[in-house]
Amino acid sequence: MILVTGATGIVGRAVVDHLLAAGAPVRALTRRPDTAALPAAVDVVRADPGEPETLPAALKGVDRMFLLTAGPYLAAYDANLAEAAADAGVTHIVKLSSGRVDDPAATDPIPTWHRAGERAIRGSGIPWTMVRPLGFMSNALHWSHTVRTQDTVYAPFGHGRIAAIDPADIAAVATTILTEPRLAESGHRDRTYLLSGPEPLSPAEQTEILSDVLGRSLRYAETSPAEARDALLRFGVDDTMANAIMALRATALEAFTSVVHPDVEQITGRAPRSFHDWAREHRAVFI
Ligand SMILES: NC(=O)c1ccc[n+]([C@@H]2O[C@H](COP(=O)([O-])OP(=O)(O)OC[C@H]3O[C@@H](n4cnc5c(N)ncnc54)[C@H](OP(=O)(O)O)[C@@H]3O)[C@@H](O)[C@H]2O)c1
Repeated sequence: MILVTGATGIVGRAVVDHLLAAGAPVRALTRRPDTAALPAAVDVVRADPGEPETLPAALKGVDRMFLLTAGPYLAAYDANLAEAAADAGVTHIVKLSSGRVDDPAATDPIPTWHRAGERAIRGSGIPWTMVRPLGFMSNALHWSHTVRTQDTVYAPFGHGRIAAIDPADIAAVATTILTEPRLAESGHRDRTYLLSGPEPLSPAEQTEILSDVLGRSLRYAETSPAEARDALLRFGVDDTMANAIMALRATALEAFTSVVHPDVEQITGRAPRSFHDWAREHRAVFI
């Protein structure tokens, strides 16, 4: 049995779908089973990574785990999950981490939280694989409202170019690793992978691709970081997370975010999906 945490989010749900398509038995961990809307083939369990006493039941009979946690307490969640996994005899953890964990200069919240989470997993003694994406193509979903209502993409850091990845490719990588019958010989044990999409794009270039896919002209308008932060607060994001997200977004101006990494292709045997592919698949959200 493979346990997927964060299974109701964008990446976790994609991992669930990919594992099911590969014929793997899947259990999904959620705090809200009633609204999880997961496929019938999934064994849905109610547990909370922040409530360690709920974890042993969720991990019973689990052999491998896709570990995705989110928010300011994610390092504590990772530690709780790693401890419960060790007690349950889990043989491999694939953790969704962050692209800047190895950079000692990355002292802003999100890489700091993930660095501590990775440390907890390594300390558990369970074989692991860290998958570290830079940015998700699905972050463009935040633009859907103003694309629909104003034909405009508002985003800060217009000079930055990110080689963002389609979450479906993260799921494909995780599924390849988690369904590997002979993990010790697969080369994925205790490895770290940097995941990117096929090309770095600025928000203006993404806007052009969206225009092409939607068949109507869209405009890119650069916002200030302060305006972008206010938009997050209006969206219901709290202060801590808004600051963490803005610090992360500012790294769009740094050169490493535009680097294309070969890991998706090396692991899955095919090139990563383009932003054009992603936009075509999510076209309906922007109409
Ligand atoms: N967006 C990016 O560009 C990017 C890039 C690199 C890495 N990441 C990492 O990717 C992860 C986020 O992935 P995602 O967007 O797929 O996940 P998500 O939608 O933010 O969250 C996945 C699930 O985790 C649970 N959850 C969310 N916030 C929580 C909190 N504060 N406390 C407890 N549970 C919480 C929820 O599940 P239930 O309600 O069902 O329990 C949620 O559906 C984070 O670790 C982030 O640092 C993101």
